[in-house]
Amino acid sequence: MRRMLVTGAAGFIGSNFVQFWAEHHPTDNIIGLDALTYAGNLASLEPVADNERFTFVKGDIRDGEAMHGIIKREGIDTIVHLAAESHVDRSIHGPDAFIDTNVRGTHELLKAARDVWSEDWSGGARRFHHVSTDEVYGSLAPNAPPFTEDTAYAPNSPYAASKAASDFLVRAYHHTYGLPVTTTNCSNNYGPYHLPEKLIPLTIVNALDGKQLPVYGDGLQIRDWLYVRDHCRGIERVLEKGRLGETYNLGGNSERRNIDVVKGICAHINKIFAGDEQIRERFPKCPAAVGGDTAELIAFVKDRPGHDRRYAIDPMKATLETGYGPAESFETGLLKTVRWYIANEPWWRAVMNGSYREWIDLHYSGGKREAGSGKR
Ligand SMILES: NC(=O)c1ccc[n+]([C@@H]2O[C@H](COP(=O)([O-])OP(=O)(O)OC[C@H]3O[C@@H](n4cnc5c(N)ncnc54)[C@H](O)[C@@H]3O)[C@@H](O)[C@H]2O)c1
Repeated sequence: MRRMLVTGAAGFIGSNFVQFWAEHHPTDNIIGLDALTYAGNLASLEPVADNERFTFVKGDIRDGEAMHGIIKREGIDTIVHLAAESHVDRSIHGPDAFIDTNVRGTHELLKAARDVWSEDWSGGARRFHHVSTDEVYGSLAPNAPPFTEDTAYAPNSPYAASKAASDFLVRAYHHTYGLPVTTTNCSNNYGPYHLPEKLIPLTIVNALDGKQLPVYGDGLQIRDWLYVRDHCRGIERVLEKGRLGETYNLGGNSERRNIDVVKGICAHINKIFAGDEQIRERFPKCPAAVGGDTAELIAFVKDRPGHDRRYAIDPMKATLETGYGPAESFETGLLKTVRWYIANEPWWRAVMNGSYREWIDLHYSGGKREAGSGKR
């Protein structure tokens, strides 16, 4: 039975991970910690709110003393570290918060874990699992082989640089102090509870409301997409089978061009609307509500600075060593995601009405500046 601390629990992947873990490991205790920044949303934890083995704690990973207290008091043996500033566009407009949370915050958490666990390593039954990104590897040429764990780091955005720095700190705490760590570097996630500032959820909710579907530049940037539940399964595999001190790349074997992702969402919406009158009535501004093509809403807008052209992940090491493999294809995962947003309108309406809306209006209004695409 684990006593697990999940940082960033109210975020996109964190809330999915907590729900996944509670379903698959019902005897484990989970503390979900989150500072509730603009990206944290307690409504995303509603499915576990009544679970007696789950506790939410509002806290900041940059507060080392508080992290020490929680790990010690709660007898934490497993940390799954997801808390981060995570949006590339925000890192371009304001990089300081990314250095503070992703680098300094991760370091405070590492120090706290080391201090508490060095009093009792419990025969090695401790784990600090760090969740990172494929963006640390930089951009790939069109025909270059996908990133492996041996690819040299070449981060291009302040976000990616801050994640790279945190990866190195995690590595150093293993090599220098023997902290039992594992790291996963993952490709673009998508799925339920994803803030509509990222390409897929933004496209879905804008399409439902009949608003422009902004696509950066020529839309030919390529990303490898992973359904968020498959990411959660990958973290589980690495926690159970991964070797200490190792890093594992988790990908979806689903390289897609951004423009094709947007067109794929439009095609799903057209089809769902054609077969469901109630949905047509609920979203009358969507072109598909009157038999039109949702793809009419696509608008190409100015690219963001330093936009990486291609990311692709080779997940072979995780597959061979841990049995990792995504269950969803991009098409099945995308359909599930579109259906989730249609079924969970109150969740995203509440998010869109909050402070996040002000930021998106400032930066993404009607394609005036750059507009939404990209990731994280
Ligand atoms: N989303 C992706 O496609 C993707 C892909 C690979 C890796 N990752 C990594 O996975 C992790 C989670 O990403 P996400 O997409 O869920 O991000 P997110 O922005 O949705 O969630 C991050 C969460 O961390 C919390 N947080 C921020 N600063 C904090 C602090 N100082 N203390 C405590 N909590 C804080 C936020 O409130 C939020 O709930 C990040 O580390 C990210 O780098 C994300």
